[in-house]
Amino acid sequence: MDFLLLILGLCLSWGLLQALVYIANRGKSNKVGKLPPGPRPLPVIGNLLELGSLPHRSLAKLASAHGPIMSLKLGRITTVVISSSSMAREILQTHDVTFCNRMSPDSVTAVRHDELGLPWIPVAPLWRNLRRICNVHLFALKTIDSSQHLRHRKIQELLAYIGKCSETRSSVGIGEAGFSTTLNLLGNTTLSMDLADPTSESAKEFKELVWQIMAEVGKPNLADYFPVLRRMDPQGVRRRTTGYNWRMFDVFDRIINDRLQVREVPGSVRKYDMLDTLLDLVEDKKEGMDLFLMKHLFLDLFSAGTDTTSSTLEWAMAELLRNPEKLSKAQAELEQVMGRGNPIEESDIDRLPYLQATVKETFRMHPAAPLLLPRRAGATVQVGGYTIPEGAQVLVNVWAIGRNLASWKNPDEFIPERFLGLDVDVKGQNFELLPFGGGRRICPGLQLAMRMLHLMLGSLLNSFDWKLEDGVTPETMEMGDKFGITLQKAQPLRAVPLPIKK
Ligand code: HEM
Repeated sequence: MDFLLLILGLCLSWGLLQALVYIANRGKSNKVGKLPPGPRPLPVIGNLLELGSLPHRSLAKLASAHGPIMSLKLGRITTVVISSSSMAREILQTHDVTFCNRMSPDSVTAVRHDELGLPWIPVAPLWRNLRRICNVHLFALKTIDSSQHLRHRKIQELLAYIGKCSETRSSVGIGEAGFSTTLNLLGNTTLSMDLADPTSESAKEFKELVWQIMAEVGKPNLADYFPVLRRMDPQGVRRRTTGYNWRMFDVFDRIINDRLQVREVPGSVRKYDMLDTLLDLVEDKKEGMDLFLMKHLFLDLFSAGTDTTSSTLEWAMAELLRNPEKLSKAQAELEQVMGRGNPIEESDIDRLPYLQATVKETFRMHPAAPLLLPRRAGATVQVGGYTIPEGAQVLVNVWAIGRNLASWKNPDEFIPERFLGLDVDVKGQNFELLPFGGGRRICPGLQLAMRMLHLMLGSLLNSFDWKLEDGVTPETMEMGDKFGITLQKAQPLRAVPLPIKK
């Protein structure tokens, strides 16, 4: 409501001025070439009101009228929306160099994160350096393998917690349990410590901060649509994000200082985790690493890695509970391959094709980042017979692509079987399924995320039977979504774990 009032106020006060600018710019874009078709924009606000509260769905609907490459005016920002696999290939593969940079929302300019944060900085030496550090020291297969015992332990703790709930037949908030576990999986993989221990104050603070930052970055912000308002920060998004980021940095400071003290003790044993590796780079003055940059990197890994993974887990469980025969099939496979109730190791995932198909089907229907992260055209370029002007924002609507009838039969139905025997994966080469994006900006956490997801989902299914809360049936389950930086279930899933009969 506040957002609408602000838009109306803006229209009244600046209407005349903006209409003149609009007319002037319309003339300019005609000179550039033919923009992709799209809905007619209103003066000043353009097509902002057409976005609604679920932009991935509104944009998919608009695309069915205007086509798989469509242009809109969001406030002052010319935006091109891509809604088919062939057009996504053009953006993420054919013209990857032109579209590899981001359009940074105003919220990420807090604490200079747009200049130092891996997801937002342009493809330039700093970005290459950070990606290399991630690839070598965090996401390399050897590195991920060497920390799997730590993740295994965290999964056992999750199962112990759920076991207690099953004794009293209490329901579990799947998204919340998944979020804490993911935070601990990442915390142990990178820092060799828990970050979501419910008994620790700093862990609790950390978890709340991650949620608050994600909420602010996901909010529609007038300053993003009217850059002239950026200085004013009319909704206070940047001010609040700045505060949250500094508090996150305080938590990282404490963690870093504790580790520095341990390292000074003669004979202390190195953990050889990402924290030690980055501190070595700082001490050796290598690869441009310093303590401030290091904190920005941690901020990115924890904010990009947690909500995405836990909300995918929540959607997968929700779809399985809504489709009991698919749930039984997934459990039957686990029983056959692992034995009922036995723990799952990361090396077992390859032997569980139905579980893998379930995760892919979840990504197809509920991609965690439905519009990826916004790209920016680095030059004026022709795509699909239309002109995308330099500076335009480009959104790839992977939610729409996952439900596009040209690629998928019965796209609104949850059918993991469609992936059995189908050579389609999520690594950015199959443009009909792009939950991790594609091209050089593809998610660097893909492998780790896939391991965490299969491990959590497979363990929950193989260690417990599950039922919905009293009064809820598969037919009456609420499956609506809520748009933010990640696509959440509007109504969090609660389910009751039951002890399994071996
Ligand atoms: C289910 C889990 C995840 C999903 C669905 C996901 C999805 C994405 C997507 C769609 C992008 C943008 C890609 C593009 O623009 O083409 C991205 C970028 C990124 N992700 Fe993930 N992600 C997940 C987990 C993780 C994890 C576990 C980490 C790290 C611990 C991570 C770190 C990052 C980073 C740092 C970027 C920015 C990369 C860049 O701009 O160069 N993500 N992710």
